[in-house]
Amino acid sequence: MADDLLDQIRLNGAVPSHVAVIMDGNGRWARERHLPRPLGHRAGMKAVREAVEGAIEASVDVLTLFAFSEENWQRPATEISALMDLLEEYIAKEASELREQGVCVHVLGDRGRLVPSGRAAVERVERDTCEGKRLTLNLCISYSSRSEIARAARLLAEEALKGTRRLEQIDEEAIRERLYTAPWRDPDLLIRTSGEQRLSNFLLWQLAYTELYMTPVLWPDFTRRTLFEAILDYQRRERRFGNVTA
Ligand code: IPE
Ligand code: IPE
Ligand code: MG
Repeated sequence: MADDLLDQIRLNGAVPSHVAVIMDGNGRWARERHLPRPLGHRAGMKAVREAVEGAIEASVDVLTLFAFSEENWQRPATEISALMDLLEEYIAKEASELREQGVCVHVLGDRGRLVPSGRAAVERVERDTCEGKRLTLNLCISYSSRSEIARAARLLAEEALKGTRRLEQIDEEAIRERLYTAPWRDPDLLIRTSGEQRLSNFLLWQLAYTELYMTPVLWPDFTRRTLFEAILDYQRRERRFGNVTA
């Protein structure tokens, strides 16, 4: 269906190894259809499947999805519980499929705020998929970048107070190692759907040199084609990292 784009991606060569996505626009998708917002979130589950399968087809190594922010806890209780129910439903429905596809799932964020059944589901999917070698899928849930950075600072301060770390050893690498994303390289490409042009407290540290791709597509309408178009756009860019080109 999107094989033409996939062929082009392969011809172009290097694909982004790590793709991050701000999955936005579920509410607007529902409103356009005069549906309640939770039905937009439900429709967004299919798009997650598209993103995962597209990432595997394009040979992306790491896919990091922003599913629920710490700020999203301010939403009405009915919407929050609909989202948390969907999370558990997604895990129950998809865990075995993800494992068969070779996907290894990690959940990043403050999981202590999840209800016990949500926490258990998260632990289960991480355990059941931990052998996956084809794609790492990071689900950011109750995640906010500023609190992730503050947490890293606190962990380092503890070591300094205990005397196990000298002040000169508090550097970029020490902070990087204490972020939830420590095992992976920074994202090469960030996609945000729904046309918003902001980061909304997502991976502020990690996105320092990431290529940004904003698309008006609402998250429930996202397909592997949307992903492939973003990757093709990425492949046309020149990343300089502050240097000059030869
Ligand atoms: C993204 O869709 C999902 C979450 C933030 C949980 P929204 O719910 O933000 O949808 P809009 O932005 O209102 O359209
Ligand atoms: C960002 O979307 C969070 C997620 C996609 C999970 P929001 O809809 O919460 O962001 P704002 O409020 O438009 O900045
Ligand atoms: Mg939104």
